[in-house]
Amino acid sequence: MDARDLLRSVRMAGSASGRLAARSAWRRQRIDTRDLPRHGPERARVPGAALDADPAPGGGTVRFSRSTLRIRVAVGGAVFCGWDGAGPEPSYALAGDGPAADARAVLEPDKDGWRVVSERVTVLVSRQGAVEIRTPGGLLLRRELPPRWWDPTGQADGCATRWVQRSETPADARVYGLGGRAAGPRLPAGGYRLWNTDPGGSFVPGDDPLYITMPVQLVVADAGCHLVFHDSTWDGQVTLRDGQEGAGSGHDRPGGCELRMAGGPLRYWVIAGTPARILSGWTALTGRPALPPRWALGHQHSRWGFGSEAEVRRVAAGYRERGLPLSVLHLDIDHLDGNRVFTVDRRNFPDLPGMARELAEQGVRLVSIVDPAVKAEPGLAAYDGGTAADAFVRDAHGGQVRGVVWPGETVFPDFTDPRARAWWGGLYAERLAQGFAGVWHDMNEPVSFAAFGDATLPRSARHALEGRGGDHREAHNVYALTMARAGYEGLLRLQPEQRPFLFSRSGWAGMQRYGGSWSGDVATGWEGLRASLALVLGLGLCGVPYSGPDVGGFTGTPSPELYLRWFQLGAYLPFFRTHSAIGAGRREPWEFGEEVLAHARAALAERVRLLPYLETLSHIARGTGAPYVRPLWWSSPGDRALRECGDAFLLGDALLVAPVLEPGVVSRTVRLPRGRWYDTVTGAAYGGRGQVVLDASPGRIPVLAKAGSVLPVAGADGAVELEAWAPRQGRTGSGVVFSGDPEGWGAPRMERFVSRWVDGEVVVERDGGGAPGYRVRVRGDAS
Ligand code: GLC
Repeated sequence: MDARDLLRSVRMAGSASGRLAARSAWRRQRIDTRDLPRHGPERARVPGAALDADPAPGGGTVRFSRSTLRIRVAVGGAVFCGWDGAGPEPSYALAGDGPAADARAVLEPDKDGWRVVSERVTVLVSRQGAVEIRTPGGLLLRRELPPRWWDPTGQADGCATRWVQRSETPADARVYGLGGRAAGPRLPAGGYRLWNTDPGGSFVPGDDPLYITMPVQLVVADAGCHLVFHDSTWDGQVTLRDGQEGAGSGHDRPGGCELRMAGGPLRYWVIAGTPARILSGWTALTGRPALPPRWALGHQHSRWGFGSEAEVRRVAAGYRERGLPLSVLHLDIDHLDGNRVFTVDRRNFPDLPGMARELAEQGVRLVSIVDPAVKAEPGLAAYDGGTAADAFVRDAHGGQVRGVVWPGETVFPDFTDPRARAWWGGLYAERLAQGFAGVWHDMNEPVSFAAFGDATLPRSARHALEGRGGDHREAHNVYALTMARAGYEGLLRLQPEQRPFLFSRSGWAGMQRYGGSWSGDVATGWEGLRASLALVLGLGLCGVPYSGPDVGGFTGTPSPELYLRWFQLGAYLPFFRTHSAIGAGRREPWEFGEEVLAHARAALAERVRLLPYLETLSHIARGTGAPYVRPLWWSSPGDRALRECGDAFLLGDALLVAPVLEPGVVSRTVRLPRGRWYDTVTGAAYGGRGQVVLDASPGRIPVLAKAGSVLPVAGADGAVELEAWAPRQGRTGSGVVFSGDPEGWGAPRMERFVSRWVDGEVVVERDGGGAPGYRVRVRGDAS
């Protein structure tokens, strides 16, 4: 027990739930002591010397004395490398069968080994097993050094082969991603664990890991950008080291990454190109992001502890009476009967379907929390059904694995079992019958409260893993991903005509196929505010574009100033939801005084005005993987100063948002990418690259528009109009507008517009000519 564990157990010891958590932790430890394969003697191995190579479409196989390396360049340029015979499949990350091999790329001998030349990258394999990924021009993007394995020897049944893979990147490289990391968006040198974890209570920037970890790194350097994905779901540790430039001495120290994995195949994918190409390639590989229904782009409000229908109605009325737009209300576990999933507390929520209908008439949807853990209670439909379907996780001796979550003693569906997924997906019929329009997956790291140690299932717990069989060491990180699949497929079966709305606290590579995420229990404080932006940016670069924080923070009570700044940021993030813990202060915009209410009203009005633009961005994310919220270097990765910027972001191509992330601020410095940018309030023009100081008094956060952009907004009467920001004199601009089926599967309509100067005026036309068909407002200094 370490000091943190001790603190946790002392804190929990007094209460009944604390005693349950202590018992559960002991039980978990006992099961693992009994069943977990113990690491016995191991033998270290490296690939050894190269023997020969066997070309095949896309690359081929290089044989070393103690391993083999398979290389396959796919159509579109993604490079796959698999050691020890590992192929791309089976994989929880990949969507479909993976891309076909690029038949033009083939292994050929090179001076120190072999190489595969393809359109996007050249792959060089050394005779010792180092793999270099270079640009077509020969610049080094990444060098993976020969790996090292520790093979169990003797009869260590079920023991995994641990491995380590070290790599080097250019000295100026910066790393982003690894899932949702509070320390980001640019990940400082240090250690990052790959094990989905509920930090318990709340988190601040120093806490790592959090709910979503992914072995996905996006690396930005002068030589070029690339994404690397090590496709193993096992527990791991990434250690990043910053490089150092030798100030022209030619003695750069490269950036470094060491990846230590507790098991799983040693295989990885590398995708090189511009950030936009990388995200497109990555989401082609792992699946395009689910498209949220239009209503999920509006403002959403939540609270753990509404407690009754009367309170939900009171909150909805509070929005309505003040003329504040509200799109969704979320019901947390307190609306359930004793926190049991798929039940309702009928005393306090006697007529949920009726209330849902009433709210729907006011344009407000209801979303329900869904936790995976099912109370172990005979007579409870979900428990009896799951037992009959043999859907719950078992230990190595066939006993149901028990844990402790909100309802008390629980069991856990094994979502890596297709039969369990099918059964679970069917349970969402109950939620739909209660009138819910979407689901919020929580506690799916998965959490089982523990007074000490890892608050999750025993590592020896058995999982189906799609029929292959294995244990929780391999299944843990994909528990939430497979739960999302079960929920998504269930909703789709139940309501085929509607796009499911689902977001999940935990997940893994590929989770965007099923929905979005939110940043979990972020601590209320300025640090938490900064961390919540880091998470949204980081997840976007890992392919998960739809996310947002608990606006106002999860815990305690934010000061009016902090609440307002969080609200103003949230208004520009894809998932815009106020939420807080039970017992925490209120989060309704009118709870912080008249001044905050006035400014929050303005932020909400701007959100509504930008809805057509956000909808366009949702379709762009769906079509190309480009996140709505992008780091400032997105279109200028060569601008080194931008790589360090975590305090502002691009919203699509057109807008740059510079939130206030510190107290007492009335103006702030904004670093601009190249090009010309307009302050959207004053219309004043600024030239990038460089820094400007802009007004950030309480009523606003600086938002700039890029010269030449054309974006759709909602006019005062609600009709879509085009906002065109004047291009530079003599230049042209452009924009695209997607408008689609709000909730169904109808193909969206895409329209392109161009803007140009004609006789001293900016004119907007359809691409290819013709009147735009929308009202146009030209903005920005005409000089
Ligand atoms: C978890 C969630 C939080 C929710 C609470 C109760 O802490 O992260 O959002 O309110 O559980 O369900």
